[in-house]
Amino acid sequence: MKNPYLPREAKVISFKRESSDNFTLRLNLKMKHEPGQFLQVSLPGIGEAPISFASYSDKHVELSIHEVGNVTNALAKLKKGDKLLVRGPYGKGYPMEELKGKNLIIMGGGCGVAPLKGVIEYVEKFKKDFDDIILFLGFRSVDDILFKDHLSKWKKKFCVNTSVDKRPVKTCFDVKVGFITKLIEKSRLKSENSVALMCGPPIMINFIIKILKDKGFKDNQIFVSAERMMNCGIGICGHCMIHGKYTCRDGPVFRYDEIKDYQND
Ligand SMILES: Cc1cc2nc3c(=O)[nH]c(=O)nc-3n(C[C@H](O)[C@H](O)[C@H](O)COP(=O)(O)OP(=O)(O)OC[C@H]3O[C@@H](n4cnc5c(N)ncnc54)[C@H](O)[C@@H]3O)c2cc1C
Ligand code: FES
Repeated sequence: MKNPYLPREAKVISFKRESSDNFTLRLNLKMKHEPGQFLQVSLPGIGEAPISFASYSDKHVELSIHEVGNVTNALAKLKKGDKLLVRGPYGKGYPMEELKGKNLIIMGGGCGVAPLKGVIEYVEKFKKDFDDIILFLGFRSVDDILFKDHLSKWKKKFCVNTSVDKRPVKTCFDVKVGFITKLIEKSRLKSENSVALMCGPPIMINFIIKILKDKGFKDNQIFVSAERMMNCGIGICGHCMIHGKYTCRDGPVFRYDEIKDYQND
């Protein structure tokens, strides 16, 4: 029997610093996956962490990583040509195939924008299959904005709204100042034939859901990526359970009506 915990080796093709505590690794991996799914990424002798796909390409895989602890700090020291280990892809991502024909509202905050980059790259590839595409991306400050080099390209294709919480001293970036939730609240979003895809801090998600409901969105028009502590990543250990659902196997992306009573547990 195949050992599900056995990882495979991947090589770093490039390392890109996105902000003072966030970086993107491009790996020489070609694997079929859905936007929103994740890999278990490890370094021998250090540990393993779940990291979402931050790309949608048949040539490589990108992971965008926030340095918060043991594994992520060690990954930040990797250079081009270094090796790491991965298991996956795991979990259920955003159901992009089912959402074709709809207006997409893509909403992310901080490092939660990483998995949404995978969604955006999917939509770039299949743009004609979707209706209007609107992005709301919120960051703490201009220095914390991720994927700066992609933003100008996205602005040519989609309606992109970016905000920073802190007023910058000086910037050439076209950003609004204030919480992204305020921008969303002020926007005229039509709920008809629309879905919202989100990832970010729970407090931001909770505010956005309330705003969307006030604008007429139903629970089944909202998709949220949930974060829970994980261990096995494959529905065995029970670490990531949300009331009978395994975040690693049944999520991490859930339709809001599936978890709304438990998401803050
Ligand atoms: C499905 C999924 C996808 C993810 N995708 C990404 C991604 O694309 N990029 C990224 O940077 N991070 C992502 N994360 C978060 C990342 O896995 C954790 O930050 C990781 O465990 C950090 O490992 P570490 O050893 O560096 O830090 P640790 O030393 O393990 O922890 C640092 C701190 O973070 C807390 N923590 C660890 N894991 C979690 C968690 N899952 N939820 C809440 N708090 C936690 C710990 O309690 C501790 O306080 C994802 C998590 C999940 C569950
Ligand atoms: S992480 Fe083990 S069951 Fe989900």
